[in-house]
Amino acid sequence: MIEQNTPRIGIDPYLEWLKGEGIPTVEDFGVDLLQIDTRPWARMGLNGAAVHLKGRGDFISMFVLELAPGASSSPQRHLYEEVLYVLSGRGSTTVEGADGRKHSFEWGPRSLFAIPLNTKYRHFNGSGSEPARLVTTTSLPVVLNMFHNEAFVFDNPFRFDERVGASKYFSGEGDFIPVLPGQHMWETNFVPDLAEIELKAWDERGAGSKNIIFILADGTMHAHISEMQVGTYKKAHRHAADFHVMCVTGRGYSLLWYEGEPDFHRVDWKHGTVFAPPDRMFHQHFNASPTPARYLATAFGSLRYPFTESKRKSMTGGGVKQGGVATSVKQGGDQIEFEDQSPRIHQLYVEETRKAGVEAKMKFG
Ligand SMILES: [Fe+2]
Repeated sequence: MIEQNTPRIGIDPYLEWLKGEGIPTVEDFGVDLLQIDTRPWARMGLNGAAVHLKGRGDFISMFVLELAPGASSSPQRHLYEEVLYVLSGRGSTTVEGADGRKHSFEWGPRSLFAIPLNTKYRHFNGSGSEPARLVTTTSLPVVLNMFHNEAFVFDNPFRFDERVGASKYFSGEGDFIPVLPGQHMWETNFVPDLAEIELKAWDERGAGSKNIIFILADGTMHAHISEMQVGTYKKAHRHAADFHVMCVTGRGYSLLWYEGEPDFHRVDWKHGTVFAPPDRMFHQHFNASPTPARYLATAFGSLRYPFTESKRKSMTGGGVKQGGVATSVKQGGDQIEFEDQSPRIHQLYVEETRKAGVEAKMKFG
């Protein structure tokens, strides 16, 4: 019997590709990246898992990469961007620039780096006894869904010379580019330790709040790091989906809710936790630890190349005169000022800090 052709509709080429890779996919609101199972990933020559958070949006996804002691990944080159964050272990990565020049850098826990677009690269675990675990945020979904041709994405000789950047960008140095509070940039390809990098004050997001925005390998992929002081929390805000939030130092929790929802969703975080607030969902971060808490966020659409109108608004809305994420909902923006928040939010924070033996520095109600 001749089968009728099934109409080809509703295809997600990225998900189709992933099915053929033979690695597990974890789907959840938030996950502990240190705990999820990885399986051999032939393409990469290491163990891997895909992480699809509920708020991952249309453009990006995450993969956990696990390198056994002494192991190295097989050489890679691809037409999508990658921002990697080291969860555990120590090793190095070699990137081959367009001119054939090799750049190597050594990473350890809390290192952040990007692979310049379509350069050849390879990861090495520098320890003979400890595994190394990295998480990468990639734009593979948008790229594969755009071209739906695997060879074009994974076997493409085009050289993006302008993406490689200065040699010093591979050595832990970078260029500070002042913009406005909340928007100051650090341009580089590699940050040795996110716990150590100097951040800049952003008081509009709450007293003592600090951040820096990364421009990595001149990419469209965004990354920023924020810090909350001991005994403090940030103002609630909302934006489009796809910000993947990872705890770097300290511990605490975040509350998430859609406008009008009677209850909050809660995510407790510590090193290894990632979560992604879904589209237009309010979220608010609380430091419940006796140390400053830093978190890293990755997303598609950078301050330099916002890509979508909603990112343009949330990225460039840091200035008080512009609309956007630092403007009160009462003025049509997407931030809830402390005096406008539900009293339950502060009550919960007082309880949580008391339990942790931390003095809540913020006084409301
Ligand atoms: Fe956010």
